[in-house]
Amino acid sequence: MDFAILTAAGENGAQVRSDALDEIRTQAIRCGKVVRSVLQFARSEATEKWSSDLTGVLRTAIDVTARYANERGAHVEIDLSREASGQTVLMNPIEIEQVFVNLIRNAVESQPSGTRVNVSTRWVEGAVEISIEDDGPGIPEAHAEHIFDPFYTTRLREGRTGLGLSVAHGIVEDHGGSMWHETLDEPSVDGSRTLGGTRFHVRLPAEKTSPRA
Ligand SMILES: Nc1ncnc2c1ncn2[C@@H]1O[C@H](COP(=O)(O)OP(=O)(O)OP(=O)(O)O)[C@@H](O)[C@H]1O
Ligand SMILES: [Mg+2]
Repeated sequence: MDFAILTAAGENGAQVRSDALDEIRTQAIRCGKVVRSVLQFARSEATEKWSSDLTGVLRTAIDVTARYANERGAHVEIDLSREASGQTVLMNPIEIEQVFVNLIRNAVESQPSGTRVNVSTRWVEGAVEISIEDDGPGIPEAHAEHIFDPFYTTRLREGRTGLGLSVAHGIVEDHGGSMWHETLDEPSVDGSRTLGGTRFHVRLPAEKTSPRA
């Protein structure tokens, strides 16, 4: 921070110093987030895994993000399929919870406020697929190829680090799963298409080979 700002005198001196301190606080918080995420990202060895209830972990992630969603006026709907519920996955539940937290937060953040988010599960041939959909502006094609890159963010001004999706992707791969997204579009009256939201999918191999009856 510029010394001249911190010693600013005159009528606006106090205001300038207060703004500067706010900026320092914002950037310090951001640095903390970067360090935490880099440490998480840099750890390349596979983590310990044990059999855990996937729907339970998903519910915890929804609970963890509920306050944040609420503060941003977002509505999170949950649509858990019977076939997928009770399925266990060999996982590190703390990491998998982080994957869902990152995706739900991104969905909530897709609009300044009032985003509708839908979280659903389904059974697909020996795996459980979790989908997190929002009604935000969608991800433009030009950005789509970069979103899993570490430090790629279009939200720098909001103090984001651009590590959420790369961390999530690394965790899912380490669990033998896959992760992808689709940009939803809506046809308009004149036949052109406008972007109309994003749906992220995470597919994780289930321990049981058949769905719950
Ligand atoms: N649901 C979404 N809707 C629209 N854009 C998205 C969505 N999810 C991710 N993105 C885009 O992908 C970029 C990268 O996402 P990522 O989660 O990695 O970083 P971030 O959210 O910007 O920062 P961080 O997660 O570290 O706080 C975002 O900056 C945004 O441009
Ligand atoms: Mg994010």
